[in-house]
Amino acid sequence: MVISNSPVLSPNKYTGVNPRLKIDTFREQCPLAAGEDVIQGLTQRPKTLPPKYFYDDQGSLLFEKICDLPEYYLTRTETKILQNYASEIAHLTGACEIVELGSGSSTKTRILLDAYQDLDHPLHYLPIDISGGILEQSAYDLLENYPTLHIHGIVSTYETALKHLNFSPLPARMIGFIGSTLGNLKPEECHVFFSHIVEALQPGDYFLLGVDLHKSPSILEPAYDDSQGVTAAFNLNMLRHLNHLFEGNFNLQNFEHLAFYNQTDHQIEMHLKSLRSQTVELKKLNLAIEFTTGETIHTEISRKFELEKIRAELEDLGLVSLKTWTDENQWFGLILYQLKMV
Ligand code: AVI
Repeated sequence: MVISNSPVLSPNKYTGVNPRLKIDTFREQCPLAAGEDVIQGLTQRPKTLPPKYFYDDQGSLLFEKICDLPEYYLTRTETKILQNYASEIAHLTGACEIVELGSGSSTKTRILLDAYQDLDHPLHYLPIDISGGILEQSAYDLLENYPTLHIHGIVSTYETALKHLNFSPLPARMIGFIGSTLGNLKPEECHVFFSHIVEALQPGDYFLLGVDLHKSPSILEPAYDDSQGVTAAFNLNMLRHLNHLFEGNFNLQNFEHLAFYNQTDHQIEMHLKSLRSQTVELKKLNLAIEFTTGETIHTEISRKFELEKIRAELEDLGLVSLKTWTDENQWFGLILYQLKMV
């Protein structure tokens, strides 16, 4: 089996459509390269799957729905913080190119774009997302609403996109990683991720990080196990996505969504529980997976942070925290860092 991780830049199909828009797609050269992690995860005990497989177009739409749920306080709370402080952020950074990791529908980013527009700063936005459909749709919507905005979208993983950033045309760059997506990375992955961030910044550039903070399980658990079953559908959609990618035969009816707060590691854990003993095949991966009744696949962690600790962790990498904003309950934090001048 030949596995290659080298990305391929697909021709930009948008060139010539709108001079203010460019979208590049970086794909794994060999589709099996993407499946290696599935083989690894499903053949170990306990079984695991990487959260990136949540996000096909259907998964991204389900995530948008999660953001609107009454129980999912994260989006509402971070949005309020941005509404209150976006103009302060724009004042602090001055004109800068905004790079957003995991841009999705770019809804919250509009608050930032408005603030930079109000200060008459030029608007350059680089949304990065693994889901091309949602990135493309939101890019067209943004172009309509912001007549001077230039967009360079990148459809790929964060790591690949960060390696392919060109020099910013503006005096500075701000990489935004909001929505507490950091919480979906394991501590060791966070470390590697932060080093990629630092490499993509020049001294004086900015990093805007949104993190969900410690709080009671009575607030956390319903946010990941909502009464309408949207999060359950989101979790189960990963199996449908794998069926599609790897010619699989996961029957979604045979699995159940589980979410609970692990108080020791300060993280929500999501799992898929097998409701019977069964064998599932992923033909393209040449893989047959046995499940016993009650056996689980661990699909996601969502870590919750302490502001002091996360500020200190990044300071060690040369990222100086300029300012932190929170909401009235201290449920969510937004931190603006600047890479130390040398
Ligand atoms: C994308 N990420 C920040 C979400 C979270 O809260 O960890 C993903 C999610 N999983 C279930 N609900 C939302």
